[in-house]
Amino acid sequence: MCTSVLRLLCVSLLLSPSLSCYQCFVDVQDSLRLCWGHVLTEHNVRNVDGCFRKLDRIFNNNETVIEAGRVGQGYDTQLKAILDAEIMPLVEEFDNKLNPDTVYEERLQTAADNFIAAASKLPRVTGCFPPCGFQSAGAVYNCITCKYDSCEFPLDCPVEEIKVMENSRSRMRCDVPFGLPNDIEVIWRFAEEVKTQQLDQFKEVTVGVDRLYSIPSTRLHHQGTYQCEIYSGQNSIVRLYYYITVTPQVVAGHTELQEIFDLSLLPGGQLLSSPDGPPNPILQLPSLLTACLTTSLLLLCLSLGALYWSSIPQRRGDADETDGSEDEER
Ligand SMILES: *[C@@H]1O[C@H](CO)[C@@H](O)[C@H](O)[C@H]1NC(C)=O
Repeated sequence: MCTSVLRLLCVSLLLSPSLSCYQCFVDVQDSLRLCWGHVLTEHNVRNVDGCFRKLDRIFNNNETVIEAGRVGQGYDTQLKAILDAEIMPLVEEFDNKLNPDTVYEERLQTAADNFIAAASKLPRVTGCFPPCGFQSAGAVYNCITCKYDSCEFPLDCPVEEIKVMENSRSRMRCDVPFGLPNDIEVIWRFAEEVKTQQLDQFKEVTVGVDRLYSIPSTRLHHQGTYQCEIYSGQNSIVRLYYYITVTPQVVAGHTELQEIFDLSLLPGGQLLSSPDGPPNPILQLPSLLTACLTTSLLLLCLSLGALYWSSIPQRRGDADETDGSEDEER
């Protein structure tokens, strides 16, 4: 019983077509017409299975053929055209006629060689750009699955953090490093306060083609996560996230003034150091002004005094000298 099961398995494996460039593009009916007149020379019998095994060996299980079929997005139609141009004339020529397997071998091998030469010239994939997004341009045709393999990145990009001052402008761009189709639609969504990537926390803000989202004057309630999602038709291509933290202006202004006072006006900082919370520098202004004015007045008085005192001995000296000279002359 076991052997019969095994035999069944073997037969089904042999007969089940393994997918490849050939299977992806050539119709089973055409293959049957192609193989109908396959004659095994050794036994002089018509044998269709032997022809299918030949096709498998030459096309389906050949690495060079599969590699030649790894073309970029949209070029599978050209792959089919190339293969059709090689196979269909053979189908017409061999249809309902007997031909020895050696002829099949030679003609099919030539067809495979021509396919490899032509398909290898088709554009290849240039690459995928990590870490996110459905990148169709990065797709490559797979002759084993008859489908395009995508870059297989997640749709969601990592959250990017942005820090802005209150009342200043925030700008976010929905840009991706890979090419996009022409028919894109951009949806911006916002999740207030939180830093999140959970889709149900977002509310739609704008729908359109605008890749730039700008907040002219950022307020505290603008803090949170912004998501932009790019669609092409009904398909989502990528989702970008920005988490914005807003620094309140009052605190920022206060800190700046505090630093200026500490650094330049009061090197010791004794006046400003207060045990209960930071002092308001505006309240310190009158006393500071008084101090400045007093100092300036004092300096003015001192310099005036110095000027006065320096002029007096000079006059006295002048008089003495004149007197002396007069005495000498006399
Ligand atoms: C695959 O096909 C190419 C071209 O037809 C041939 O030169 C090569 O020997 C084949 N490889 C194998 C493993 O059969």
